Amino acid sequence: MNDPLLSGKKILLGVTGGIAVYKAADLCSKLVQAGAQVDVILTEAATKFVSPITFSALSGRPARVDMWSEGSGQPIPHVQMAAAADLVIVAPLSANTQAKLALGLADNLLTATLLATHVPWVLAPAMESHMWANPATQAHAATLRSRGAVQVGPAEGRLASGAVGVGRMAEPVEILAAARRVLARDGPLAGRRVVVTAGGTQEPLDPVRYITNASSGKMGVALAAAATDLGADVTLIHAPLAVAAPYGVACVRVRTAQQMCDAVLERLAQTDILIGAAAVADFRPAAAATQKIKKVSSEEELTLRLVRNPDILAEVAGRRAETGRPAVVIGFAAETQDLLANAAAKLTAKRLDLIVANDVTEPGSGFGADDNRVTLLFADGRQEALPLMDKREVAWRVLQEATALLQHGRDA
Ligand code: PMT
Repeated sequence: MNDPLLSGKKILLGVTGGIAVYKAADLCSKLVQAGAQVDVILTEAATKFVSPITFSALSGRPARVDMWSEGSGQPIPHVQMAAAADLVIVAPLSANTQAKLALGLADNLLTATLLATHVPWVLAPAMESHMWANPATQAHAATLRSRGAVQVGPAEGRLASGAVGVGRMAEPVEILAAARRVLARDGPLAGRRVVVTAGGTQEPLDPVRYITNASSGKMGVALAAAATDLGADVTLIHAPLAVAAPYGVACVRVRTAQQMCDAVLERLAQTDILIGAAAVADFRPAAAATQKIKKVSSEEELTLRLVRNPDILAEVAGRRAETGRPAVVIGFAAETQDLLANAAAKLTAKRLDLIVANDVTEPGSGFGADDNRVTLLFADGRQEALPLMDKREVAWRVLQEATALLQHGRDA
């Protein structure tokens, strides 16, 4: 699946001198793999650590160093490169180049080009911890932030000197996530709050055993990522996940249905869109034993008494009827038979705007799979059956519908 944010974007990647340039090569590769067109400018100091050829090979475009080299075919390369860029990333950013950027100096191709840009900057400083802590460096960093630059890191850890402190360049995935966040901030859900539930709740029987289901959380994680890409502030309320939560998403880890319910209701008044992708246990053991349940040799059977858990989306419907929030509520229906009839019944009972029905018996779809085949059932009676797709594509479609429903509510 193409990266919806980075695909086709023109990224200007500045690389300054520091041992972290090896991570910049990885970042360049990741950006290219995401479909971005990457133009790299290195400072002279950066070339002491790595050859521009590395970046030319990774980006498939000539990496540049010198403002005055002939044969580039561009009479004033800094102005043209600045005008073409959608986003600037400087990684690693040395103390020296940070100071020049803060002061507006333009004494090499990188600083001259950045001075001519009118697009956001994502800066990933990397330096020895005393240099980072120096008041001059801190003042320059603050100046750049105050002008709108997004700073990622530096992180604490082992530095090139062998010392441990603050100064390590942020990891490429974090820089990538920050870049994606900047590109998303004018998206249609900018300023909106989206809450997604994910994963299978666990209902304890005793300190080491619990009742759960096969949800991996992949569907919910994909929904949270898609909402983030559309510019929303996203909270992922999740039971244990088999996959990593997306960067830039606020995570609330819960275990039981009751905890998930409490976490959702607590945020309801601030939520614009709620999407319930979690597989929530409808029942829990009436009492969780405080000690591990013993096997009694005389007993051939063990009876568990279960009691009802709250229905989170039904609770939400009750509150929403009073407050009008969240504006949009979307549920999922995991069915093993009569998919559409059962999903439609849940759509009505839980007073949802949209229910995403998945037949969880289909191989390669539903629980644990990377793909899903779903049918969208809307409260107004519309239905749309989608083909088997990557869960990220399903998520993207669901978020497009959520955005339209939100927009429709505002216009109504
Ligand atoms: O996590 P994955 O491995 O990626 O798998 C994805 C999925 C199959 C779990 C997902 O696509 C899905 O179908 N999620 C909903 C699973 C489910 O519990 O469906 P349900 O039909 O039992 O519940 C209907 C809706 O009510 C769901 O939105 C559910 O979150 C919600 N619910 C259910 C029970 C309950 N007590 N409270 C609820 O709010």
